[in-house]
Parts: sequence; structure tokens; C-alpha cells
Amino acid sequence: MKPEQVKTRIQELRKVLQKHNYDYYVGHSSSISDFGYDQLYIELQTLESKFPEFDDENSPSRRVGSDLNREFESHPHRYPMLSLGNTYNKEELAEFDQRVRKLVGEEVSYFCELKYDGVAVALTYRNGELFRALTRGDGNRGDDVTHNIRTIRSIPLKLSGSSYPPEFEIRGEVILPAEGFKKMNLEREERDETPFANPRNAASGTLKMQNSSLVAQRPLDCLFYYIPGEQLLFQTQSESLEKARNWGFRVPEYNRLTNSLEKVFEFIDQWESNREQLPFDIDGVVIKVDSIPMQQQLGFTAKTPRWAISYKFRAEQAVSRLLSIDFQVGRTGAVTPVANLEAVQLAGTTVKRASLHNADQIGMLDIRTGDHVYVEKGGEIIPKIVGVDHGRREPESEPFRFITTCPECGTPLVREEDEAAHYCPNDTGCPPQIKGRIEHFISRKAMEINAAEATIDLLYRKGMVRDVADLYSLETESIRNLERFGEKSATNLIESIELSRLVPFPRVLYALGIRYVGETVARKLAEAYLSMENLMEASQEALEQVDEIGERIAQSVRFYFHDERNLQLVARLKSAGLQFEMEAPGETVSDLLTGKSFVISGVFKHHSREELKSIIEQHGGKNSSSISSQTDYILAGANMGPSKYNKAQKLGVPIITEANFIEMLSQ
Ligand code: IVH
Repeated sequence: MKPEQVKTRIQELRKVLQKHNYDYYVGHSSSISDFGYDQLYIELQTLESKFPEFDDENSPSRRVGSDLNREFESHPHRYPMLSLGNTYNKEELAEFDQRVRKLVGEEVSYFCELKYDGVAVALTYRNGELFRALTRGDGNRGDDVTHNIRTIRSIPLKLSGSSYPPEFEIRGEVILPAEGFKKMNLEREERDETPFANPRNAASGTLKMQNSSLVAQRPLDCLFYYIPGEQLLFQTQSESLEKARNWGFRVPEYNRLTNSLEKVFEFIDQWESNREQLPFDIDGVVIKVDSIPMQQQLGFTAKTPRWAISYKFRAEQAVSRLLSIDFQVGRTGAVTPVANLEAVQLAGTTVKRASLHNADQIGMLDIRTGDHVYVEKGGEIIPKIVGVDHGRREPESEPFRFITTCPECGTPLVREEDEAAHYCPNDTGCPPQIKGRIEHFISRKAMEINAAEATIDLLYRKGMVRDVADLYSLETESIRNLERFGEKSATNLIESIELSRLVPFPRVLYALGIRYVGETVARKLAEAYLSMENLMEASQEALEQVDEIGERIAQSVRFYFHDERNLQLVARLKSAGLQFEMEAPGETVSDLLTGKSFVISGVFKHHSREELKSIIEQHGGKNSSSISSQTDYILAGANMGPSKYNKAQKLGVPIITEANFIEMLSQ
């Protein structure tokens, strides 16, 4: 492949994976089979490692996905919630075994467990009582679902025995057992509600419900499998689960300890053919090095432990007929085709829709209306079309023609030369694009305004919010009588909009949604120009002088500020009082911190680490990367490293939060 083609493919893969991540973690649904997802993921990883020039810190290959939800409070994870490396074949498992033996020696035992197909949760117990339950979130922060977790009867609120540590975390998978799932769906159908696609979706949707008394009515369960921590509480994984069981956690008994790879394979085969007999869904097995000292020796890569791997069961396939293809328009205007199929049973669910990526994929498979198609899905629900039975094609069938106008607004579609997707160019008049931009603007990393997608949809439909600046003219009086609102939610929304006026300039710039201006680029531009006004006046050449800003980004910024409609929008945002300026990093602002030495650790809510460092310097303080007796403060964000935490404790260095720090400066 030529570099240009590689680049296009990488971009396409990132886009597709991002969408699937969103659907999976936030939308509680999925439009691709597990296997299909993993194939795309592996393809992206391979291309990225071969072509580092197309690297992007925001690539989905750098993340574990996120289920963060604006309506929940989020907290940092004490230990990041990583995913597992996975494979679908035994050769790769043998390679895993080889790698392990090479690093820790031949005397390895493996603990084989089932891979429960539900939603991961991390529970913290303090003094034997359930203290907090977090979802995976983005791996570093999770949503607080403690109130819902408390309703799961099999989860101990108080532990048995007394040998548990004063504080520890335990991870498990919230699942909906098959029987409960069936019953729940029957009831839903009786009430004319849409049944859940599969137990995993049902569990994940339930866990994110606001009303925990409704959660209590759903027969959720939780199966436990891991106690993270750096101090040696146990010698082996098997011992840790045995202990957990004694303390009152539900730990299934299907596990097997073995030192032979053959036996590992047997375990896999046994469960691959008998999974239907289990009272809950599994999507594979997990193989873990049993010895915890060995696990520590093997450690972690950025995303996965080196001491464990999952073997995923292959997707099941079915044949169906393609009835028609629909088209959905996303926030960037990208048009995604979706297949409507004749209903077919696949792995216990009825399948009627399947995802298709783009015109190329339709062309590649030469899919035509009326064709018999192979549909596949892993543990996941919305399946994927993986092939066409050309032998059964109707002789009069015709090649499928991709639409030429936008299904939402009728504008003729465009397709740029190196892009896989078709786009609707009507960015200011096409409803899903407008709503998408508003959603980006209010998102957590941008203006952090608390409003659900449905709320935005409602405000848009009522004509109250047609662009992001309209948000700032909303008033409690005018929204509190709308269908989704009450007094409290109306006030909350208005307060949240008010608060967003304090969001620092770099994030305001990011929130505008200028093409190619992601978080990092926005920060670079903000730091270089210090105000919106300066940035708006910057020439293409000047922009390209900024660190890490190339022609493409510079052009896009110029293009944005060239458009009269954007200029008007920006002017309205300015009069709404958003932060359009910032202090120059490096300039001295005060001597409040003179003589004070800081170590920054973790991830912060309102500022990036770089921003915090420059604020410290602006106020006369010093930054240092390691903790010593000379350190005056540790400025700790989410996910501060445990070793730093311990060292700070040992040396008695005060640990302060971002809020403490800001307060310190306001004195
Ligand atoms: S161990 C540090 N064991 O699979 C590794 N995970 O793809 C901790 N899962 O996030 C994970 N069953 O949600 C482990 N027996 C099991 C599991 C299991 C299901 C899930 C879990 C994890 C995901 C990784």
C-alpha cells in the first residue's frame, strides 16, 4: 500500500472503531461482532506500528473505550482498568505461553477461568464494608454506580470472616443470568417495550439507570475474578479467589489450575462446546499466570497485563436476505450504511439489522438488495455482514448504488479523494450534524455541560438551541415546563451552562469543533496565540510556525475563521462571556509559590499537566518529577501512581487536589 492509502485506511479504521467504542460503552449496544471489531483493531495496530508517522495520541488503539456517562459522578481508579490481550487461535496462545516461560522460567502454572460476558466493575471495600463501585469508564476514571451495585443481592455489603485487608479493591463482571434475562424480556414485550438485544446489553443498561429501585427489580448478579494491588496479599490467583469466596464474593467454580498447555486447550474446548449449558453468557476463557510474584515480574504493557490473555470463542454465523440499506448521518456529516435483513435467529437473538461500513465495503463484497448474505456475531449483538452467497443471487439483481443525496436534508453528498466515507456538506442545515456539534461542544473534555443526548435533541426540536451559542440564552423559566424537565433538572442545566463560562480558553477552542483541532492542537494554538482574537487574525504561514501545527491544520483553522457564519457564532460566544484569553505560560503573575517545590501526578479535571506546570512557574514555584524530602506538595489528580502515593505518605509530603491548588492561588 502507498503511504497515502495507508493513511486513509488508518483514518477510516479509527473512525469506525471510535464509533463502535461509543456504541459499546456509552450506547449499551454494538453494531459489530467481537471478532469483526478485533480484526479492525488489529489491522489498525499493525498499520500504526509500521507507519509511526501517522501516529495520533487520540487513536482508539490508545484507549480501552469509555462508558463514562454525564449523569453519573466519576472517580479515578486506584489502578487503571485495563483490558486483556485476546486471541482467537491456539497458536497465538502457544506464543503467549512461550513468552511467559521465557520471562519467568518453565515452572509456570496457569489458572483458567471463564470470560464472563457482562460489564466490568471495580468495588472498593473499607473495613469490610462496600465503600464504592465504579464502572470501567475510560480505564482511568469510572462512573460511580455504588447505589445500583448495592441492589445486587449476591454482592456482600459486609464481608464475612476477618482476614480481609482494611482497604482493597475487587473486580468482577456484572451479568444478567440467562433465566432472568428471558423473564425480563418477556415482561418487556408484554408491556410493548423493546426487548434487550442480549444479557450483556441488559446488564450494562441496567447498571446505568438513575433509579436504583428499578435496578433492584432486575435480576443482576456479579461474578468476581481479580483483586488488584501491588502488595502481596496472596501468593496465587487461585488463592486470591478462594479468599474472596470466603469473604462472601460469588466466584464461580468452573476454574482449572494446570501447568500444561494441553490442559489449557482442553479447558477451552470443553467450554466452547458446553457454553450453552452455563446459567450465564461467556464469550471465551481467560488464562492467567497463577503465581502473583510471577505476575508482578511480567507486569503490564500500556493496555494489557502480560500475565493473562483471553481466548475468545468464534462468532456464530447465519444466512439471511438483504432487504434494503438505510443510511445514517453522523455529526461530522459522514454517512454510514446500515443493512435491513430478513429476521434470522443468530446465537439466541433475532437479527434484523447489520452494519456496513461504507461504499467501499459494499463494493468490495458486491452486496446487492435481495442477496443471501452471511451474518456473523461474536458475543455481541448488532452483527456484521461478512460475505455474500453469490451462487444464490437472482439473475436480474443489479449492483447497489450508493445514495447521492443526504437522507436527512437532501443535499448532494461529497466524497473527498482520500476519504472512505461520503459526507453531507450541509453542516449548518443538516439536523444530525448540528446536534452532533452541540454534543461535542458540551462534552466532558470541552465545555463540560451536563445534558444528555435526548435533552439536546429536545431543545433542538423545540427550536430553542440551534447552535452552541443558543445554549447561553436558555433560561430556567423557558425550559422547566418542557417534557424532560422539572424544576431541579432545569436549574441544574442552567447552572452547568453558567459554570462552563469558566472553562479555560484552550478547551473553549477545542469545543468549537474545528476540523483537525483536537484537544492537544487546541492547547498548542491557545498557548501560541493566547487569545481568540489573535488566533483569528493569524495567517496560514504564521500558524504553520507553531509547534506541531502543519499545513492541514493551519488550513482548517483559516477555513473556519474565514466563514462568516463561524465568525458570527464566535462573536456571540464572546458576548456570552466565555474565556477567550489566557495568561502566557511562563510569564510571572505572582510570587505566591516562591520557594515551593511541586510534583504533579495523575490526570486533572480542569487543566492539563502542562497547564498546571506553567501555572506553578507563573507564580514562582518549581516543578520536579520525583518526590523527595525537598518536595513541598504533591498535586494529585485522578489515577495518581500508587508508588508516588506511598512515597508521599512515607515522607509526609502533603497531597493536594486541583481544587486545593486553585484555592491556594486565590489567596
Ligand atoms: S481478568 C488485569 N478475568 O474481560 C486484567 N477479566 O477483556 C483483569 N472479564 O475487563 C481482567 N471474565 O471485564 C478477567 N475471568 C475473568 C474475566 C474478565 C470477564 C472481562 C473483564 C475485563 C475484560 C477484558
